[in-house]
Amino acid sequence: MTSDAATPLAAELIGIDKEFYGVKANDNVNFLLERGQVHALLGENGAGKSTLCSILAGLYRPDSGEMHISGAPVLFKSPKDALAAGVGMVYQHFRLVANLTVAENLALGHPGLDVRLNQKELQQAATELGQRYGLPVDASARIWQLSVGEQQRVEILKLLYRDAQILILDEPTAVLTPQESKVLFKTMRQLAEEGRSIIFVSHKLDEVKQISDQVTVLRDGKTVGGVATADAEPKDLARMMVGRDLELPTRKPSEDIGSVMLGVSDIHVQSDRGLEAVRGMTLDVHEGEVVGIAGVSGNGQRELAQGLVGLRPLTSGSVELDGVDITHMSVLSRIRAGCGYVPQSRLGMGLAPGLTTEENLALKAFRRPPYSKSRRLVASAFRDNGEREIKEYDIRGVRPGLPIRLLSGGNLQKALVGREVEMSPKVMILRSPTRGLDVGATEAVRNQILEQREKGVAVLLISEDLDELMALSDRLLVIYEGEVVGEMPTEDATAERLGLLMAGQREGAS
Ligand SMILES: Nc1ncnc2c1ncn2[C@@H]1O[C@H](COP(=O)(O)OP(=O)(O)OP(=O)(O)O)[C@@H](O)[C@H]1O
Ligand SMILES: [Mg+2]
Repeated sequence: MTSDAATPLAAELIGIDKEFYGVKANDNVNFLLERGQVHALLGENGAGKSTLCSILAGLYRPDSGEMHISGAPVLFKSPKDALAAGVGMVYQHFRLVANLTVAENLALGHPGLDVRLNQKELQQAATELGQRYGLPVDASARIWQLSVGEQQRVEILKLLYRDAQILILDEPTAVLTPQESKVLFKTMRQLAEEGRSIIFVSHKLDEVKQISDQVTVLRDGKTVGGVATADAEPKDLARMMVGRDLELPTRKPSEDIGSVMLGVSDIHVQSDRGLEAVRGMTLDVHEGEVVGIAGVSGNGQRELAQGLVGLRPLTSGSVELDGVDITHMSVLSRIRAGCGYVPQSRLGMGLAPGLTTEENLALKAFRRPPYSKSRRLVASAFRDNGEREIKEYDIRGVRPGLPIRLLSGGNLQKALVGREVEMSPKVMILRSPTRGLDVGATEAVRNQILEQREKGVAVLLISEDLDELMALSDRLLVIYEGEVVGEMPTEDATAERLGLLMAGQREGAS
C-alpha cells in the first residue's frame, strides 16, 4: 500500500486509443499504477478492461497513446518485450500447454534459459517458488491433470519465474472457489508488499473492496474515474460502472410449485478419464421451481449436466422430462422435448465462435420455419429475429457480419441465455450462468432465470457461486465426489452449512 508521492509510478498509460473494426475499445484512456499497489480495474462487460490490460502486456499495440514503465517510455511489439520490461499477464483464457508439465511450462519461452536444464532442477525451482508465494503445485504434473485453480497458479508462477514486477490478473477469481480466492488474495498482498504492482480485474465488488488499494473505472472504453478503495462502498462502485443504482434480484418464495418436470433416478456418469464422476444421483425439479446444485468445481457438475442433456452417456440410471423417458434420446431430440442448456464454456460448447450473432441466436431453431423453408435458409428471418433478440436481451457490441467470438464475455452469456429462453423450454439446466458477468448483466440474467421460473419452467442451477444459489434457488442440493450429500430448502441454508457439506463433511456424522 502506498500513497507516498515520492514513489515512482510502476506504469503510466496516457491517452491510449485502440479500435477494433470501428469499435473504440479504448478511447483516450489514462491509467496510473503505483509501485506496491493492488489496483482494481472495473467496468461493464465490453468496457475495454481486457483490451487495456492486453496493451500493457504487449499483446495489442495501441493506435495511439504513450506508455511508461518506471518512468521510461516503452513500445512493446509482443508479450515477450513486455515481460522483458517486467510486465506479465494472466489472461481470462489461459495459455498453458496442456501436454507439458508444470515445470516445463514455467521454462517455456524463458529467454536465456538452457533448454537442457534438467527436469529435476526445473521442478525444484517451481516447487520452491510455489512455496514462497503460497501457490503450491505439483511441479511434475501435466497441465491437463490440474484443476482450473491450479492452472491459474502455474500462470502466476510463470510470471514470477520471470520476476515480473507488474502482474496483470484478468478476472482471476471468476474461475475460483471462495476458498481459492482467499488464498490468491494472500499471495497478491505478499507480492504488493514486496513492491510489485498488481492490476486486478473483477466484477465482484466485495472482492475489489477487500483486496485493492485503488480503483479505476472504465465505461464504453473511456476512463470515468478513479477512487481510493477506502473511500468507496461496493454500491458506489456499481453506480460508477453503470451510471445507475442496481439491485440484484432475488426470488420471492413461490406458492405454486407444480408437478415433477425433471426426474433423475440414480444416474451414474463417467468422466473423460473413465472415472465414475456421478455416482448415483437422484433428484427432482418441479414446474416453476429452481433447484440449486452447490459444490466445489470438479465434483461431478460437468458430467451431471452433460449426462442430462445427452452430451455424455449414462452408465446407468434414468432421466424423465415431463413424464417422458429421455434416457436414451439424442441431444437434438432432448432439445425438441424441451430441454434447454446453458453450458459452462460459452465459446467451446454453447456458441459457434465463427458464426455471426444472428446465426448463433437461431442455431437451435434453424431447421424450422421461419428460418428454413422448403429446405432453404431464409436470410431475412435470421436478421429480423437477430435484431429483436439483440434488443430484447440487451446484447451489446454486435457488428453485423462479424463472428460472435468478438463479443465480450458478458454479452456472449446474454446471447446464450436469450437463445435458450427463446426455445420455450420446459426444463433449463444452467451452469454458472453469471460467471464473469458485470453487475448489470448479472442482474439481467438473474431476472431471466426468475422469469422462466415464473413461467413454470423447471430450472436446475449448477453453480459454484453461493450468493447466486441462495438468491435464486427454492431448494438446494450439495454434491461432493459425485454424490448428493445434503439437501435443504434455501431458507435453512447458510454459507457455513453449505461450505462444510461442500468440503465433504456429512451432517449428522460426528
Ligand atoms: N480482438 C478483438 N477483435 C474485435 N473486437 C474486439 C477484440 N477484443 C475486444 N473487442 C471489442 O472491444 C470491446 C472491449 O472488449 P474487452 O474485451 O476489452 O472488454 P472487457 O471490459 O474486458 O469485458 P468483459 O468484462 O466482458 O471481459 C468490446 O466491444 C469487444 O467486443
Ligand atoms: Mg475482459
